Amino acid sequence: MEKVLVTSALPYANGRIHLGHLSGAYLPADIYVRYKRLNGDDVIYICGSDEHGVPITITADKEKVSPKVIIDRYHNLNKEAFEKFGMSFDIYSRTSLPIHHQTAQDFFNAYYEQGLLVEKKSKQFYDEKAKMFLPDRYVEGTCPRCGYEEARSDECERCGSLYEPSELLNPKSKITGETPILKETSHWYFPLGKFQKRLENYVKEMNEKYGWKENVLQYCNGWFKEGLKDRAYTRDLDWGVKVPLKNAEGKVLYVWFEAVLGYISATKELSLKKDEPNFWRKYWQDPNTKYIAFIGKDNIVFHTIIFPAMLMAWNDVKPDKYVLPQNVPANEFLNFEGKKFSKSRGWGVDVLEFLDIFPPDPLRYALASNLPENKDTDFYWKEFQSRNNSELADILGNFVNRTFTFAYKHFEGKVPPRKKLTAIDYEMLSLVENYPLKVSNLIEKFKIKDAVFEMMNLARAGNKYFNDSEPWSTIKNDPDKASTTINVCLNSIYTLAEIFEPVLPFTSKKMFDMLNAKPTLWIDSGKENLKAGHKLNQAVILFNKIEDKQIDEQIFKLNQLEGIKVTDEKEITIDDFKRVKLKVAKIIYAEKVEKSTKLLRLELDLGTEKRQVVAGIAKSYSAEELIGKQVLIVANLKPAKLFGLESQGMILALDTDQNEKVKIIEIDSSIAPGTIAK
Ligand code: MF3
Ligand code: ZN
Repeated sequence: MEKVLVTSALPYANGRIHLGHLSGAYLPADIYVRYKRLNGDDVIYICGSDEHGVPITITADKEKVSPKVIIDRYHNLNKEAFEKFGMSFDIYSRTSLPIHHQTAQDFFNAYYEQGLLVEKKSKQFYDEKAKMFLPDRYVEGTCPRCGYEEARSDECERCGSLYEPSELLNPKSKITGETPILKETSHWYFPLGKFQKRLENYVKEMNEKYGWKENVLQYCNGWFKEGLKDRAYTRDLDWGVKVPLKNAEGKVLYVWFEAVLGYISATKELSLKKDEPNFWRKYWQDPNTKYIAFIGKDNIVFHTIIFPAMLMAWNDVKPDKYVLPQNVPANEFLNFEGKKFSKSRGWGVDVLEFLDIFPPDPLRYALASNLPENKDTDFYWKEFQSRNNSELADILGNFVNRTFTFAYKHFEGKVPPRKKLTAIDYEMLSLVENYPLKVSNLIEKFKIKDAVFEMMNLARAGNKYFNDSEPWSTIKNDPDKASTTINVCLNSIYTLAEIFEPVLPFTSKKMFDMLNAKPTLWIDSGKENLKAGHKLNQAVILFNKIEDKQIDEQIFKLNQLEGIKVTDEKEITIDDFKRVKLKVAKIIYAEKVEKSTKLLRLELDLGTEKRQVVAGIAKSYSAEELIGKQVLIVANLKPAKLFGLESQGMILALDTDQNEKVKIIEIDSSIAPGTIAK
């Protein structure tokens, strides 16, 4: 039995979790953890909200509320999203809790007291208009190393370089658009360079023992090659963990130096909840603990270099020593229909929105089958539909369904005995028996995508065995054979219920309920777990097919939203704008589109012509109230087909930022239909 500590990157409480986040750091970790629990290992799974950092204060300023309002909102939304998605955290904590502030300050003090931190005066970007020092990500400029034009003040996303803010070319403040000045301030620095040799050895040793992922090693080696530099440990800000020194007013710990400690403070909070104050030490401070940190690729340096260095620096002077990550299986990114997720452009789907429409298990399966383990991958709606329909429903669902139907029709809903085993049965039984190990070998190596593929292969093999055994004919001329077939199929379904549990927890539960059984130890799940005579429960439908219309609606909505959201990133010329024909249209008829919750079919009068437009506004307006109103439409939009209906244009509406509610732009009845807006 292993003692396993698993963490997933703490998401910022500044926005909603979307599918890309799930694929990066959450779903793979949850699959790993669920498997480990079934395997009988002693595992805890820790996560929570990262509630400091400048993006939160900026959002709060924009909305004219306190940062607390923002973090409460997104902490609760994301917690709910994770729950609905089936994430099995032992705790979902938050870094605004006093226990976290205390922990982070303890670490700072431990470094300060051993004289490790270096105080330095430096010049930082200062926005004179906003009257504040600009944090890294609020300065954009050209990378001094590779020329990338959207580089941050001290770090380039494209080439991965770290540099001094003064080296950034052509800096601009992202808050006011002004060119910031460099102004002197004083900060404490963590001397990462002092740890370079030890960090290199650490990464080398972990890789040799446990096999780190290629992408992670490459990033690490890149940094080592460039040479680790001192990193500012403090920032000039109000929102965050206060620097625990006198004369440090207005300064907080740099968010990354405290966020990573959130894993530890979250485990401490769990200990308090369990009423066992030293519980966290059993994991964090036992050298036998296997600590695995799941993250997305943009977090690599913080988990393979900065966090380990921080733990080393603590361990150097304190008696209670921490374990370091044994593996950091970082994933690449998931894109959405060929482009990056983007909140400002309305590109992508967030988790709560998704789970309002479709159940969690098909999403888990589709994402797990396409994890960006070695390269970026894409979520496509059509692929989601086919994973659900042709794999979950047609292979797994079908195998379970036909077996149960047969067991009820011919064996009174009981497990029939094995009476006559022939080669084909032995073959299936040995396949099933070896399956749990086959799958766990892959999961142990973090090859989750391959593991999921193998899981479905067992269901494929089950269907083939059913077909080849022909129980529908043997039940007539050789009933002992049919009895054997169904026994083997039911026991295979037991195995499937167990090995699919990490990916399909909700479905697995249904399958165990149907089997009237409970999971066993992972490694035993391929054995004869259902004995002859065992009574089954009634079957339920495991997966509903997703219709084309449901998917078309999502694709339409996506394109429509993207059309409406104005990007603040790139400017267009007056000629670009002139290409858009905006016209006044009178709604002469409106009705709901059948089977759609969001769409209305509208007939429009444009003066000289009539048009049909399909608009995604059914959640905001009833058909009746629209008739007679005048609206603005984009009249030269390329027609699109949707639910079999052609949409010849797009209605302009205002995004109210309340979940899916919009307000159409109404035009006074004194204006004639067909009038051009300019
Ligand atoms: N909030 C960061 C992000 O979303 C991740 C923080 S991970 C932690 O990218 F370890 F620092 F907490
Ligand atoms: Zn660069």
